[in-house]
Amino acid sequence: MSKVISIIDSKNHVGETVRIGAWVANKSGKGKILFLQLRDGTAFFQGVVFKPEIGEEMFQVAKGLTQETSVWVEGEIKEDSRSKFGYEMSISSIEVVGESVDYPITPKEHGTDFLMDHRHLWLRSRKQHAVMQVRNEIIRATYEFFNKEGFIKMDSPILTGTAAEGTTDLFETDYFGRPAFLSQTGQLYAEAGAMAFGKVFTFGPTFRAEKSKTRRHLTEFWMIEPEMAFTTHEESLEVQENYVAFLVKNVLENCDYALDVLERDKELLKKYTETPFPRISYDDAVELLQKNGFEDVQWGDDFGSPHETFIANSYEKPVFIVNYPKAIKAFYMKPHPTRKDVVICADLIAPEGYGEIIGGSERATELEYLEEQIEKQGLDKADYEWYLDLRRYGSVPHSGFGLGLERMVTWISGNEHIREAIPFPRLLHRIFP
Ligand code: 4AD
Ligand code: MG
Repeated sequence: MSKVISIIDSKNHVGETVRIGAWVANKSGKGKILFLQLRDGTAFFQGVVFKPEIGEEMFQVAKGLTQETSVWVEGEIKEDSRSKFGYEMSISSIEVVGESVDYPITPKEHGTDFLMDHRHLWLRSRKQHAVMQVRNEIIRATYEFFNKEGFIKMDSPILTGTAAEGTTDLFETDYFGRPAFLSQTGQLYAEAGAMAFGKVFTFGPTFRAEKSKTRRHLTEFWMIEPEMAFTTHEESLEVQENYVAFLVKNVLENCDYALDVLERDKELLKKYTETPFPRISYDDAVELLQKNGFEDVQWGDDFGSPHETFIANSYEKPVFIVNYPKAIKAFYMKPHPTRKDVVICADLIAPEGYGEIIGGSERATELEYLEEQIEKQGLDKADYEWYLDLRRYGSVPHSGFGLGLERMVTWISGNEHIREAIPFPRLLHRIFP
């Protein structure tokens, strides 16, 4: 029997007869020739079935194949200069593995609700395959980047007793008779990690009971959170821009075909690999908005999506908005030394209207200040004693940030909505499939 390969490895098998396990995505042709659009999970490819070569009986099998039937196909790998993929199989035998009757997602257009209800099948489509390749590459490059920069990957718990990003959007669960929360962020644990290991990053699912329906919010999303001891915010900003530029560069290098499927403008993406990224203070951003038709924006307001988009459109690259008002940011951020009303932080806003992809800050180190903030935000100090220990025993200046994986994937893929950036999105009113 012939060797089993993945179609993605075609270049090493040109001229060989091989076997591939695949699914039938589509079918065309007439007379003595049939073109099967196949996918084996690694890529989509064409299988050519020619009656005089394969024989009448097998040709009838091929003709009867329905969408998403699974098959073993055997044949010779050939170069195919007409397709971007570059290879096809000249099929000599077909064996049906699993039938597929009335596959719900047909090549015609479907509405989003229908596709979301069939997300378990929708994932098989060409575009979703491309998005998941971009996601996978961002994850791979993340590990490469932080490894080469000397960070340790540290896993933070998902069940926690402490809220770090405000109490309004917590998912609460019963933990043997006491309340526990699904983690909103790994940060507080990453700070403990930074004091133990110097430079760490967490990467895991985080949860927010977001009650609003937007194109940018999931209730379950994945976040990459580096935390660095003996590091100022200014130094952290440099890590952030280098990291984001590295991700874009790697997607450009390793996901060329996926970006074609997504019809993403690669020249535009190339611009985002050039550092440094511009910076604007929150104060200046408010002024910029007020001068450009957003008269209702007041100092102290949080920015909404139209505001972020306007600011982003004033630059060609991602832009850092730095030093937000203390009142609209988390309790752990370091107060500005000369401006008591702002904190040392930044949000990185993606170009083209994709919104905030990173939130980061220098962390407050002063014990009394943190105790005061915890109280002001109505949090129970007892739950934070372990965190305060980090300030009691060898506290050092430290900074960190969180990049939202799905925001990043949405931006780099050029998708309208964040729901396509994760295999099974969790949204307000959606827990299935
Ligand atoms: O700005 P956020 O809330 O920051 C933190 O959680 C910090 N503890 C991070 C840190 O300093 N270690 O969230 C960080 C990022 C946002 O910039 C955004 O990209 C993403 O997480 N994010 C979401 N992505 C999808 N759906 C949501 N509901 C999100 N909320 C935040
Ligand atoms: Mg934020």
